[in-house]
Amino acid sequence: MKSPRLIQIAHEDPQAVRAELLAGLAAPVASIAPKYLYDALGSRLFSAITELPEYYPTRTEAAIFSRDMKDMAQALGPVHTLVDLGAGNCEKAARLFDAFRVQCYVAVDISVNYLRDSLACLQREHPEMDMLGVGLDFSQTLALPAEIGRGPRTLFYPGSSIGNFTPVAALAFLRQARAATLGGALLIGVDLVKPIGILEPAYDDPLGVTAAFNRNMLLHLNQLASTDFDIADWRHVAFFNTAESRIEMHLEAIRDASVTWPGGERRFAAGERMHTENSCKWQLDDFAALLKEAGFSRLCHWTDERDWFAIFAAFAGSGDA
Ligand code: AVJ
Repeated sequence: MKSPRLIQIAHEDPQAVRAELLAGLAAPVASIAPKYLYDALGSRLFSAITELPEYYPTRTEAAIFSRDMKDMAQALGPVHTLVDLGAGNCEKAARLFDAFRVQCYVAVDISVNYLRDSLACLQREHPEMDMLGVGLDFSQTLALPAEIGRGPRTLFYPGSSIGNFTPVAALAFLRQARAATLGGALLIGVDLVKPIGILEPAYDDPLGVTAAFNRNMLLHLNQLASTDFDIADWRHVAFFNTAESRIEMHLEAIRDASVTWPGGERRFAAGERMHTENSCKWQLDDFAALLKEAGFSRLCHWTDERDWFAIFAAFAGSGDA
């Protein structure tokens, strides 16, 4: 039987991570990059979020995939190599293997350690498939390793993680994604604009799971940057910013609070916030225009009956714009 190959690309060194985090904390309006939501507990809390009745994206996307999988397979043609960006437990991609006739599966996530067990398990179910796990932080630059091979690939970016990028950053990311397909395609999930009464509870659920997910970031920071955040000082805030068409998550100081770290301190007044995540919601036409602007030549898309979520297949075509 084959066994998965695993490679880790340039793990950011702990000093650089610490410096980046502390710079964000010390800024006039403090912010922390959303990738720090995902330590071991954060990943489990996110997975619990996907089971909440209010959190529609995961369920809606899954329904589109199960209904339209054959149609997507036909649009894409045989997918020799499937590159899964932010693979995690690899479950979403695994559901596509048969219909898409995948021969080579490349799982990319921030740390190869998250991929080891899921890939080993998947390989037992697909003994003939070539499997590669890549530890890579692609949130700044999408530079896929040469080990993947030189043929056209299908990049798979589900879940609407593209929403974490502002429109300007999303365009830069999509340009890199187009180049990285080597003439292949991108299959991407996008969350769409919908009534605020649906959007806000999805990010501020009555059970408090999203609040725990957001506040857990401070525990992760205490680990990474030797800060001494007291979780009890901070509450979860999430709202739809209509002008920017995005859900914003913040942590708000309940009372005057301070945080210290070796060599520094930051005070927060009651009500002051740290920005922890953007989750942009797109209009179908605007996202199609963005894909074209990124250089994709042909598009197909599928949505649910309420038009809450869209999956786009975007083809790179031949030019190298
Ligand atoms: C993983 C970025 C797609 O934006 O919906 C869920 C993260 N944040 N609840 C999203 C998230 C709060 C999620 N993404």
